[in-house]
Amino acid sequence: MTGEVAVQQTEVLESASLNAEYHRIRVRAGAPASQARPGQFFQLLCPASPAGTPFLRRPMSVYGADPASGEVSFLFKVTGIGTRGLAGLVPGDRLDLLGPLGNGFTLEPGWRHIVALGRGAGLATLAPLGAAARARGMEVTAILSARRPSLMVADDAFRAAGARVIPVTDAEGTSGPAHVERLLRGMIADGRCDALFTCGSARLLEVVRRLAQGFGIPAMVALEQQMACGLGMCFCCVRSFRVDGQVLHRRVCYDGPVFDAREALE
Ligand SMILES: Cc1cc2nc3c(=O)[nH]c(=O)nc-3n(C[C@H](O)[C@H](O)[C@H](O)COP(=O)(O)OP(=O)(O)OC[C@H]3O[C@@H](n4cnc5c(N)ncnc54)[C@H](O)[C@@H]3O)c2cc1C
Ligand code: FES
Repeated sequence: MTGEVAVQQTEVLESASLNAEYHRIRVRAGAPASQARPGQFFQLLCPASPAGTPFLRRPMSVYGADPASGEVSFLFKVTGIGTRGLAGLVPGDRLDLLGPLGNGFTLEPGWRHIVALGRGAGLATLAPLGAAARARGMEVTAILSARRPSLMVADDAFRAAGARVIPVTDAEGTSGPAHVERLLRGMIADGRCDALFTCGSARLLEVVRRLAQGFGIPAMVALEQQMACGLGMCFCCVRSFRVDGQVLHRRVCYDGPVFDAREALE
């Protein structure tokens, strides 16, 4: 983990339902929250709602962070009591957050073209990478996967950053691993894939791992794992990795959540 971490009381500035499953909130936070880097996350103290009172904080990736305005945004799928409480926030409400936590994505100066590949809520985690890479002069291709077009999220953020967006969906029969692998192989053959980034799908991670190993391409995955402390103390978020032929165990919250995709095991 790098940088300052704090518990901060923030003010909700915007709360918007995006489609049948996803919601976005934007808060006024200030530093250190607004200095969060792509791939880092916060532990949110989700408010009570008619659905119940969440006991633990819930991990949520930074979707946007602007040190100039002090604003931070989150984009999330409404799944259980925590995220239902979050979705019920309205402008003026308070949101308590702990972070920024974990190690984010890295962008090597020599890369000219990166490919981000994700699905569902994983797209929220990948989204800020688009702007960060473009700001460093890199071309960005984003292959964004969803069950159907109406559930696609973060495509607008990638487009606003100047990325080339390729949507793939179950409904259109374009999201299967074989089709996505063909797309990626084409980009690699064209010399348009110096690094791969993925989040949100075990099947896509498998494709990324195979291509990264086969072609020697750097690849990073942001893993999602149920968490308790989020600070490296409880060991409830441990996952397995194969490193130099040995299986190692690492904490997603503290050692990650971004890891070398070639090492992550399911
Ligand atoms: C580092 C990190 C970053 C994340 N970023 C985002 C994000 O940007 N947007 C987003 O929509 N979600 C994100 N998640 C997942 C998010 O934390 C869970 O969806 C949330 O905790 C669910 O809380 P809940 O109380 O609403 O649901 P619960 O009632 O706790 O659970 C509802 C369902 O979600 C599953 N679930 C719970 N926690 C997780 C988890 N950590 N990962 C995967 N599934 C879970 C449960 O198994 C259950 O099926 C992230 C998770 C991690 C670990
Ligand atoms: S959530 Fe406690 S160690 Fe990761």
